[in-house]
Amino acid sequence: MALKLKTRVNEILGSKYPLVMGTMGYQSTPEFVAAAANAGIFACLSSVMSRTTQALRERIRETKSLTDKPFGININLFPMISPLPHEEYIDASLEEGVTVFETSGRSPENLAPRIKKGNAVFMHKCARLRDAKTAERVGADIVEIVGFECGGHPSRENITSLVLIPQVVDAVKVPVIAGGGIADARGIVAAFALGAEGVLMGTRFLATKECPIPPSFKNKLLECQSTDSIFVMRTLSDPMRALRNKLTMTVQEMEDKGATQDEIIHMLAGEKSLKAMEAGDVENTLLACGQIIGLVHDIPTVKELVERIIGETTAVYQRLGKTFK
Ligand SMILES: Cc1cc2nc3c(=O)[nH]c(=O)nc-3n(C[C@H](O)[C@H](O)[C@H](O)COP(=O)(O)O)c2cc1C
Repeated sequence: MALKLKTRVNEILGSKYPLVMGTMGYQSTPEFVAAAANAGIFACLSSVMSRTTQALRERIRETKSLTDKPFGININLFPMISPLPHEEYIDASLEEGVTVFETSGRSPENLAPRIKKGNAVFMHKCARLRDAKTAERVGADIVEIVGFECGGHPSRENITSLVLIPQVVDAVKVPVIAGGGIADARGIVAAFALGAEGVLMGTRFLATKECPIPPSFKNKLLECQSTDSIFVMRTLSDPMRALRNKLTMTVQEMEDKGATQDEIIHMLAGEKSLKAMEAGDVENTLLACGQIIGLVHDIPTVKELVERIIGETTAVYQRLGKTFK
């Protein structure tokens, strides 16, 4: 008998399961997001993929043509060399019928009233306890929290998910989606045991058939151990957990030797990295990647992965039932 997995999270988001595929800046395409939505989980298109409002509108329309299930828009507030017009993006998305926004990267305080005025669901993803409290204070309907293990940008406080999740659950009344270091049913049940009502996974979904990264990357990911998730940009304001390769090792070395911010940014420039990615060049691309990569051993479709995880959740729950009699 499959577990129902009903929490406030899937009630609010409208997805079958309270599971979220983490937004991935240059990977969260309409096809990939629709694959997640059709598999019964929630996902967001990423704003950074669209350099104009019109491009964003087109991506929303394309996603709608691929799924009738709900999906959201991630508004990326990380500092960028050419910042995006967030307000315009929110207004255009609302006009296109988007009903869920996820903010991440910086305080969403300035944007919160706009999202709430549009009667949309507002979730904020953060990596520190105090940011989770701020998100609730400024009106978030859901708080997403990621620990030190996560792919992308953990906080500089270095607090692991196991320590962070229950503290956030205790600190806010709104439902919490937990992530950072989760890739299978054991991690999901653990996050629920800590009080989360939803689970967020990013790195695990990199190794799926629909993820739009070249096969050379997926094959490389299968060879990785957890130690292949390393930090770059430790000397800038937003350290990033990424795949160990020639580029990230060189940048680490440069940072150790006191390279300037400009030198580091030049090495990691988005355009250069995207070109390398397109060429399948695993060694010269900056690809976010969490420690849980050590537990990723195959490349299923998104649907196969979700069904397997949901099935295994039941088995883990039953095993625990025998232990905690
Ligand atoms: C390749 C990749 C790209 C990501 N890009 C973004 C992004 O653009 N915006 C964002 O908020 N989070 C981004 N993340 C973080 C994920 O949404 C999610 O929070 C994280 O992967 C969860 O931790 P996990 O990797 O341990 O599952 C990215 C993660 C990965 C692996």
